[in-house]
Amino acid sequence: MDQHSAIATPPAPILRRDYRPPAWRVPTIHLDVDLAAAETRVRARLEVERNAAEGALGGPLALDGAPGMVPSSVTVDGHVLDEGAWRIVDDQLLIDLPGAAHVVETDIAISPEKNTQLMGLYASGGLLCTQCEAEGFRRITFFPDRPDVLSRYTVKMTADRTLYPVLLANGDLVGEGDAGEGRHWAEWHDPFPKPCYLFAMVAGDLKANRDSFTTLSGRAVQLGIWVREADLPKTDHAMAALKASMAWDEQVYGREYDLGIFNIVAVADFNFGAMENKGLNIFNSRYILADPETATDADYDAIAGVVAHEYFHNWSGNRVTCRDWFQLSLKEGFTVFRDQEFSADQGSRAVKRIEDVRVLRAAQFPEDGGPLAHPIRPDSYLEISNFYTATIYNKGAEVIRMMHTMLGAEGFRRGTDLYFERNDGTAATCEDFVRAMEDANGADLTDFRRWYAQAGTPRVRATLEHEAGTATARLTLAQTVPATPGQPDKLPMPLPLRIALFGADSGTPIVAERVHVLGDEATEILFEGVDEPPVLSINRGFSAPVIVETNRSAADLAFLSAHDDDPFARFEAMQQLMVDTLVAAINGGQADEAAVVAAVRETLTDPALDAAFIGEAVLLPSESFLGDQLPVVDPSAVRRARDSLRKRLGRELEPEWRATYAATAANRFEYTPTAKGLRRLHSVALGYLDACGAADVPALALAQFEGADNMTDRQGALGVLANGLSGERETALAAFYDRYRNDALVLDKWFTTQAIAMREDTADAVERLARHPDFTLANPNRMRSLVGAFAANQYAFHAADGRGYRFVADMILAADTLNPQSAARLVPPLGRWRRFEPARSALMKAQLERIVATPGLSKDVFEQVSRSLA
Ligand code: PHE
Ligand code: ZN
Repeated sequence: MDQHSAIATPPAPILRRDYRPPAWRVPTIHLDVDLAAAETRVRARLEVERNAAEGALGGPLALDGAPGMVPSSVTVDGHVLDEGAWRIVDDQLLIDLPGAAHVVETDIAISPEKNTQLMGLYASGGLLCTQCEAEGFRRITFFPDRPDVLSRYTVKMTADRTLYPVLLANGDLVGEGDAGEGRHWAEWHDPFPKPCYLFAMVAGDLKANRDSFTTLSGRAVQLGIWVREADLPKTDHAMAALKASMAWDEQVYGREYDLGIFNIVAVADFNFGAMENKGLNIFNSRYILADPETATDADYDAIAGVVAHEYFHNWSGNRVTCRDWFQLSLKEGFTVFRDQEFSADQGSRAVKRIEDVRVLRAAQFPEDGGPLAHPIRPDSYLEISNFYTATIYNKGAEVIRMMHTMLGAEGFRRGTDLYFERNDGTAATCEDFVRAMEDANGADLTDFRRWYAQAGTPRVRATLEHEAGTATARLTLAQTVPATPGQPDKLPMPLPLRIALFGADSGTPIVAERVHVLGDEATEILFEGVDEPPVLSINRGFSAPVIVETNRSAADLAFLSAHDDDPFARFEAMQQLMVDTLVAAINGGQADEAAVVAAVRETLTDPALDAAFIGEAVLLPSESFLGDQLPVVDPSAVRRARDSLRKRLGRELEPEWRATYAATAANRFEYTPTAKGLRRLHSVALGYLDACGAADVPALALAQFEGADNMTDRQGALGVLANGLSGERETALAAFYDRYRNDALVLDKWFTTQAIAMREDTADAVERLARHPDFTLANPNRMRSLVGAFAANQYAFHAADGRGYRFVADMILAADTLNPQSAARLVPPLGRWRRFEPARSALMKAQLERIVATPGLSKDVFEQVSRSLA
C-alpha cells in the first residue's frame, strides 16, 4: 500500500458549503478482525440503508478506502459480487445497489507493521492499536468515513494469545474464548451509535491499573488504565485525574458516564496527545505516565488536563458529535474550555489562566496573523489533519468562554443542558450550539456568530482620559479586525471586556468591575465621580482573546502590577511593562529598565502573593512573543535586548534572588499546589542568579541537579546549565543521559533541553543530535522533542546563515515519507517568513520553495507549504 498519495496535480479543496447528507446510512457494522502485525485480515458486514433525509446525496454506495486498498471479496445480501459489479474510483469502493436496504460484506488484508503514518491500525512497541480520527478508519476497512454516519459496532478480535493476551475495543465485552492454535478471541459491543472516527481496538501484552467509579445515579463503572507492566506504578496520577474528571462533569455539567467500562491505553507512538474513542481512550504515553522521578509538575498538570479533556469528550464529542469536519471546534473548542475550567477548579485558577493565555499567544496569535490563518469554523481544506490547530482548539475555547462570560455560569449551563438534550445521539453543528445558548437564555448572538466566520485577532485601542474639573473619566474603545488570507474585510465582533478603574493616589478600586461588550467599531464610556487620576484595568481575566493597546504609562502599569485585585490583570500589567520596555530597547529608544526592576522587586517581595503566581509574573516575555510585537523581526536584536534586561534584573536583585532561592528550597518532594509553586519559583530564581553572572551559580545548579528528588528540580537545574558554557553543563547532560537513556519520555527532555538552549551553537548541536543513535523521526514525540523544540527557539532557528531553516526543511522532507501528519506540523515556523528581516525572510522562503518542488510530497505538507507561499 502507498505510504501517502503523491501530489501530481494540486488536489481540489473540500468546501464547507458543499455539505450534503450521506447517500447511505449504516445502522450496524460487524467487524471480524484477525490480528497479526505483518498481516491483519478485516472482514466487515455493514447493514446499509438509503438515506431518506432531505438533500441527501444519491447514487451508488460509496465506501472510503485508502490508496492501494483492494478488497479480496465483496458480498451483497449474501451473494459474492463479480469483479465487474464493484469498482474503485479515487480510493472509494463503489457498489450499485438496487434496493433501499442491503447487507454488504468486504474482506481485506492490511499490514499494521508497515503503517508508519500511525493512522488506522498500526504497531507500536509490540502492541497493535488504532487511530481513526479524522480519516483513519478507511485504512482499516471500506466504510463511509464521515462523522455524520453513526453505527452500532460489534467487533470480534482474534489474535495470538502470547503476543496479545489483552484484546480491547469500544463498549462492553460480550464474549471471549479460545480460538485454537495458540490464539484467542474477544467480542465487544458498543450500544451507542458512533461515527467511525471513534472506533478503537487494541491488542497487546498490557496490564491494568484497575479502579471503579460510582456515578451520580449509582451505576458502577470499571476503570482501567492499560500499560506495559513496568509502567503500572506510573499510572496513579492519571487514575486520580480520571475519577476527579468524572465527578466534575457530574457536578458542573450534570453529565454522567454511560457505559459499564471506561478504559485508557497508553502507547509510545502517537501523532497527537490522546484520543477520545468511545469507552476506550488511547493516549500518547506522555499524557499518562508520571512519577516524581521522571515527570515534572508541568507534566503532571498536562496529564490531568488531557485525561479530563478526553473524558469530557464522552459528552462533548461522542454523545453529540460533529456533522462534518468543518465543525471540529464544536467538540474541540468546547472540550478545551471544559478541561481548562476543570484544571482551574483543581488548582490555582489565576495561574491556570496565565498559562492558557500564554499558550494562546504563543501558538494561536501567530497562526491568526500569518498565512495559515483560518476561522474557528473553516470554509475549506485539503487535508483535515492540518486543521487540528491552536485556532480550532484554543481560540475555539476562548469563543466558548466569551459566551460563558456574557451569559453567566447559570445561563451557560442552561444553554449546555439544552444543547445536550436537543442533540444527543446526533451529529451537530456549531450553529446548533450557539442556537441552544440563545434559546435557553433568550439571548441574541447574531453578531457574535462572526467569531465562527472571521479569522484574525481583533485589536482594541483603549484610551482613558480624566477630567479633574468634572470628576469624569472618558474611556474610548475602538476595534479593528485585521485582514487575513481570503478575508480582506471584516465586521466588528462583540468583545466582552471586563473593565475596572483604580485610583492612582489611593491605590484602591474606584470603579468596580463591569463587563462591557464592545459590539461596534468604536464606543465611549463615561465614568462619573472620578476625583483622582484613574488607572485603567481592562480585559481582566483575558475576557476576550484580543490584543489591547492602551495609553497607560510605565507608572500606571507598575501600579497595576502591584495593586490590581485581578491576578491575571496584575500579571498582564507586568508583562506589558516588560514588553514596552523591551520593544523600546529593540527600536533603539528610551527603555525604562529601572521601572521593570522596581516592579519585579515589589512582586518578588510581596508577602501576600503565592510562589506559583510570582514565578509566572517575574518571567520576561519569550523572544518569540517579543518578535510578535514587532513589524519586522530581527532575532538578534530581540536576543540582545532581552538578555540585557534579564542580566540587569539578575544583577540588581541578586540579594532578592538569593533569598528567594533559599526560601523556596524543599527537603522532600510533595505534590501539593504550594510545593509546586515553590519548585517553580526556585528554578526561576536560579535562572535569574545565572543571569547575574555570579561565579557560584554553575555549582549551585549542579548541586540542585544532583540532589533533586524530583524531575521538576532536576530539569529546572539542567535547563539553566544548558544555557551556559560551564563544565557543569557537560557533567549534568552526560549524567542525565546515562540515568534516563532507557526511558523514552525522559530522553525526549534531554533532546529538548539542548534544542531550546540559549547558546550561540545551538543550531550545530541540534544538527549533531539529529544524528544521535537515539534520535528517530519514526516516533512523533522524539521528532518534536528535537525538531519542534528547535523551531520554537527563535534565536537559534533563525541563525543568520539559514542553517536552521535548511535543517528543518530537511527534517520535513524526511519525515514526510514516513508520517505526513507529523511532518506537516513542522511547516508553520518556516511559513512565518514574511515577518522577518529581508535576509532571513529570503532564506526561509527558499526552503519552502525547495519543499514544494519536491516530487511525491504528501497532501498534508503540500497544503501547509503552498498556503505559506501564497
Ligand atoms: N480528538 C483528539 C483530542 O483532541 C485529538 C486527535 C485528533 C487525536 C486526531 C488523534 C488524531 O482530544
Ligand atoms: Zn479533543
